[in-house]
Amino acid sequence: MTHFTGKVAVVTGAASGIGRALSVELARRGARLAICDVDLDGLAETEALVKGIGGEVRSDALDVSQRELVLAYADTVAEHFGGVHLVFNNAGIAFTGSVEQMSFKDIDRVMDVDFWGVVNGTKAFLPHLIASGDGHVVNISSVFGLFAVPTQSAYNAAKFAVRGFTESLRQEMINTQRPVKVTCVHPGGIKTNIARNGEQVEGVDHDDLASSFDKLARTSPQKAAEVILRGVEKGKARVLIGADAWVLDKLVRVTGPGYQRIVAGFSRRNGL
Ligand SMILES: NC(=O)c1ccc[n+]([C@@H]2O[C@H](COP(=O)([O-])OP(=O)(O)OC[C@H]3O[C@@H](n4cnc5c(N)ncnc54)[C@H](O)[C@@H]3O)[C@@H](O)[C@H]2O)c1
Repeated sequence: MTHFTGKVAVVTGAASGIGRALSVELARRGARLAICDVDLDGLAETEALVKGIGGEVRSDALDVSQRELVLAYADTVAEHFGGVHLVFNNAGIAFTGSVEQMSFKDIDRVMDVDFWGVVNGTKAFLPHLIASGDGHVVNISSVFGLFAVPTQSAYNAAKFAVRGFTESLRQEMINTQRPVKVTCVHPGGIKTNIARNGEQVEGVDHDDLASSFDKLARTSPQKAAEVILRGVEKGKARVLIGADAWVLDKLVRVTGPGYQRIVAGFSRRNGL
């Protein structure tokens, strides 16, 4: 028996990276899974991995930015399994570009997926999590929800917003004595396809961005999933993943707004 045995867990963005690793690690721990993504080929691969270790899984196409679809999905999943205990709002996209260069549409797209996708998933599943009597909301922010960097203003805005939304929800659940724990996750660099899947403004080289990211990202998705699930088991408010996340969190605490000069210099020297 593990903390997750027999529990119904939903993972958004399960076709790749952290979402795939979470799905596999949850299945290993005996959870029953509902996985979803916009990438159906990747989702089918995750489904096969989960089934390969004997896990119970249903998979669905879902764009987390489509509110009505997310609401309907939550009801379908709850009906299918007879309830829902955990939701991992993990789906996300990357976008690189300065505020001057980005269009409003670029910013909207990042907010739609990385912020509203999390809000949609949280609101849609919350009644079911409360009804389960033992619920947990796990929202994936980023270290970029703890400090800002140049060329990531939209992503920073979405991830700071996820943190604020999630921390407020946690306190509401405590004050209203709802049976729902709430965890906000801040990964450092995780070796996934996020940069390769990402987009950027014209004039920024996609392959350069992806290879810079590959050099900086040190933690495997499997390790990230293990750290997240350990934090969930403990009911932690905040989970940091990777030594880089710990160091950067400390830097911000120690320097306050002074970190901005240090990070700007690092970005300039490394062409980020
Ligand atoms: N990789 C990192 O270094 C890192 C660091 C901090 C935070 N994160 C966050 O972790 C989460 C997972 O990212 P990852 O690194 O595994 O990236 P990834 O690109 O490997 O996986 C993201 C998944 O989300 C899916 N997705 C994208 N838009 C979607 C939508 N509208 N609806 C449903 N699914 C959608 C993609 O198809 C993909 O399968 C994201 O929220 C990301 O911002 C990643």
